[in-house]
Amino acid sequence: MGIQFDSKNKIFHLKAKNTSYVMEVVRDGYLLHRYWGRKINTFHNSNFLQLLDRGFSGNPYLHKDERTFSLDTLPQEYPQYGNTDFRKPAYQIQQENGSTITDLRYQSHSIFKGKEPLEGLPATYVESEDEAETLEITMVDSLIGLKVILSYTVFERLNVITRSVRFLNEGSEELKLLRALSMCVDFRDAEYEFLHLHGAHVKERHIERQPLRHGIQSVESTRGASSHQHNPFIALLRKGTTEDFGEVYAFNFVYSGNFLAHAEVDQFSNTRVTMGINPFDFNWKLEAGESFQTPEVVMVYSAEGLGDMSRTYHELYRTCLVRGHFRDQERPILVNNWEATYFDFNAEKILEIARAGSKLGIELFVLDDGWFGKRDNDKSSLGDWFVDHRKLPEGLDDLASKVKDMGMEFGIWFEPEMISVDSNLYREHPDWCLHVPERLRSESRNQLILDFSREDVCDEITKRVSDILESVPITYVKWDMNRHMTEIGSASLPADRQRETAHRYMLGLYKVMEKITTSFPHILFESCSGGGGRFDPGMLYYMPQVWTSDNTEAVSRLKIQYGTSLVYPIVTMGSHVSAVPNHQVHRTTSMEMRGDVAMSGNLGYELDLTKLSDEEEKIVKQQVAHYKEIRKLIQFGDFYRLQSPFEGNETAWLFTTKDKSEAVVYYFRVLAEPAAPTTVLKLKGIDDTKQYQVIGTDKIFGGDELSYVGLSIPANIHGDFQSYVWHLKACSE
Ligand code: DGJ
Repeated sequence: MGIQFDSKNKIFHLKAKNTSYVMEVVRDGYLLHRYWGRKINTFHNSNFLQLLDRGFSGNPYLHKDERTFSLDTLPQEYPQYGNTDFRKPAYQIQQENGSTITDLRYQSHSIFKGKEPLEGLPATYVESEDEAETLEITMVDSLIGLKVILSYTVFERLNVITRSVRFLNEGSEELKLLRALSMCVDFRDAEYEFLHLHGAHVKERHIERQPLRHGIQSVESTRGASSHQHNPFIALLRKGTTEDFGEVYAFNFVYSGNFLAHAEVDQFSNTRVTMGINPFDFNWKLEAGESFQTPEVVMVYSAEGLGDMSRTYHELYRTCLVRGHFRDQERPILVNNWEATYFDFNAEKILEIARAGSKLGIELFVLDDGWFGKRDNDKSSLGDWFVDHRKLPEGLDDLASKVKDMGMEFGIWFEPEMISVDSNLYREHPDWCLHVPERLRSESRNQLILDFSREDVCDEITKRVSDILESVPITYVKWDMNRHMTEIGSASLPADRQRETAHRYMLGLYKVMEKITTSFPHILFESCSGGGGRFDPGMLYYMPQVWTSDNTEAVSRLKIQYGTSLVYPIVTMGSHVSAVPNHQVHRTTSMEMRGDVAMSGNLGYELDLTKLSDEEEKIVKQQVAHYKEIRKLIQFGDFYRLQSPFEGNETAWLFTTKDKSEAVVYYFRVLAEPAAPTTVLKLKGIDDTKQYQVIGTDKIFGGDELSYVGLSIPANIHGDFQSYVWHLKACSE
């Protein structure tokens, strides 16, 4: 590992575990991208740039007599607009004279051990300086006093490079940042497929991939949240890349608001990838002396397919993004009352469910929406974070204590960023929501969004949430967020800063989350946005797990969880067994299959446990006991995808301990088929040299046999919606 600078040839060579990343400073300080991929020992410019006279690709002024030198044809590291590169720039700045032309040149750089935090923003971190090394390259536009610092961190033990950018206005005039993306990579070909995760509410993170074509292909959010619709993740895959083979270049944005991820294939079939805060409706005023920090992009290179890419993200996020006490703690099995009662509950009903849960071995009871204000439906009370004594006459403290007396922990739901028009908070502060004066305020789920760009709003909400957390023995919080932004504007910002509102909101939100999560380190926080609408690395920095989807139906969940696993660790995925017929898609699946899908994440139950039949109770009890045995392996082991639900009727995945002494294999079949193929499942991630016993049988197989010959799927699993599980333990033989 390390970052080297060859001062003679002005070449930066960044080395992560098995990855090299190379840049070069040329001519009058232009910074070019030269290589990213498999690690090489030394870069001697074998892929030297052949300058050609290309029609309609102009020449920067200082090289105007040299028709072969054009920024339009060179791979740029952080491209700008207006001086011969006609592709989309990484940044754009408007000056007082109205011009958006800038001209950055290399000025200096520094290399240091470790990694600095990004002020006010979530980011990956290191615990010891030896884990990473950082390069900061300072680029300057001397005409306007603009300084841009490009930051790169390489991780010692992973194929990861993180990037971010800091803008400093060291001139005397006011600048307007119109575009401030966090990174750019100019690949010198276009022989890739573009992979991304698209979706909708109750259908998050579905995998889609297609060959790159000339022009721009992008995914983005303009919703004020990273969104269900597009996850802030894209990857370029060499054609034919599979789970286990092929090169992958992946990009994930550590941010929870509007983003843009974009690939542009140019006239010469080069590909430019950029990612950052969405420039759409963004305009940030940078006064003299001010600076602006972009969020971070985590770039992963894999020479061994998508599986290796995922395990790299999982390891990085599990150990260098998620923080706090719960980072390394096994997560409790919970029961949540949402799908059991919705808003219609009282203390007695809650205690009945909790009691049933405690008998089954469940460890945490979560009281969902409806415990505060006068919230009998979704039309009122958001913002009034005071217990509703009509439903809970003895208060929350009493309820929590009674749950605790049953031997369970107590958790609670909040939606701190929201306000109902029918609330005391709104009646007192109608200007506290995002809005534009004189314009009507669009509602979504009957609610408005609090203006978290305002400090007074953030302080009051922090206080209200903290008051509850201080006075009630709560050890888990579900932090929900159930609408996207419209009429984005803030009563506290002047006209020329209105288009800063969406990003200022995120900064305010991150500050509130930092304050609350660090003030209550014993509380496990789970983020949620109508399920997985903000399943992004930004949220994971504050809250170590996420409610994966409001869709709790087992078959739908196969795709949602498989897609989510591409980037996000299993231990971050909340996954619950719910009632049948399922409330979202009305499908009926067996308790076994629902359990097996939910056990492939952080197991929970979300149904009225008092209504289980004796047989169901028996199964749930077994599931809970079994999960306790395997949860360390599931939550902190390595994850291997074996069969994709996006490619057929069957899905399979496998969890193994780091030392490969134990593995759990899950197989799911959606529909029974006449003349079904007799499937043999080839395992991955286990040790060829070990012998494994299939627990519950006397069968022992070598790891090599299980991987290369495979395991037969028993033919006697009949009917639709079936699952099958093998638990393997290495034995000495
Ligand atoms: C949306 C969440 O995703 C659900 O799980 C539930 O908490 C509801 N909100 C409550 O309003």
